[in-house]
Amino acid sequence: MDFGANGAWPARRMRRNRAHAATRRLTAETRLGVDDLIWPLFVHEGSGEQTIAAMPGVVRHDLDGIGEAARRAVDLGVPALAVFPVVDPAKKTPGAEEAWNPDAIANRAVARIRETTDDVIVLLDVALDPYNSDGHDGLVIDGAVDNDRTLDALCAQAIAHARAGAHYVAPSDMMDGRIAAIRAALDAEGLAATGLIAYAAKYASAFYGPFREAVGSAGALKGASKATYQMDPANTDEALREVALDLQEGADMVMVKPGLPYLDIVRRVKDAFGAPTLAYQVSGEYAMIAAAGASGWLDRERAMIESLLCFKRAGADAILTYFAAEVAERLAKT
Ligand code: PBG
Repeated sequence: MDFGANGAWPARRMRRNRAHAATRRLTAETRLGVDDLIWPLFVHEGSGEQTIAAMPGVVRHDLDGIGEAARRAVDLGVPALAVFPVVDPAKKTPGAEEAWNPDAIANRAVARIRETTDDVIVLLDVALDPYNSDGHDGLVIDGAVDNDRTLDALCAQAIAHARAGAHYVAPSDMMDGRIAAIRAALDAEGLAATGLIAYAAKYASAFYGPFREAVGSAGALKGASKATYQMDPANTDEALREVALDLQEGADMVMVKPGLPYLDIVRRVKDAFGAPTLAYQVSGEYAMIAAAGASGWLDRERAMIESLLCFKRAGADAILTYFAAEVAERLAKT
């Protein structure tokens, strides 16, 4: 027991610095700000807003809605949007050809945002699952996802997205060698200014369930597993090897996904590489907070802010979160 110099006990009173809101602010080690937010948006090919049962408060936008969301992001100071397309099932094929159609809804959505504002940057996923009748991120050949034939498709998709105006393309497919292949393909097309955000440590996770409902890939996937390309949740050294490869291959930023259950990975990645490190608070994480909040089982707003702050504490530079606009509004009030 430490009785301290003057005999008072305890000599170290940790609570002093917590006694006043002002001292708590002064001693805060981590802050969450609007600059840390990337807002994922869904866009569909029809008109009007569609609700998503498993993601209450999130909608599928039409093109006008995407333009309005971009303006809202600018008004709130959110720096980046990630757009995910919901593709008409009739356009899904085993070859996923719609993925590199210049008029695909993802490309039209980016063009709309770029016409609306210069004040946000736009990320587009590179992966075949929205376009593939098998629901997989890669091409299924003889019953298995074929890595190297998928790379050609991903390069074509990345070029189409970059030409449409995406500031960054974000390969989320977990094929080997895709960062190098896409970087070379973009450069060869004169698209060297387009950045690459690698979903570097992306795990085969149950927490993507609501997203697959939102984009309609669950129906195509029919319960099949992505475990032959996404990572095993048991692994952490492997995440560092994935990140190392993606950085060597030319990734401008790296991402860990899902988020909250994987903050140990975020910390290790940030410490090991010091690269711009993003984390994705995925659809299932959003759904849990939204559902518990709606049931009155926890305080939605406080859980939202706390969970996002924890990403920062773990070392994330920015967070993809479906709460982005809501949290930006909340932060503007304080
Ligand atoms: C597709 C992709 C997924 C997510 C982002 N891009 C789902 C998947 O890999 O099946 C998940 C995002 C979320 O759950 O919010 N490649």
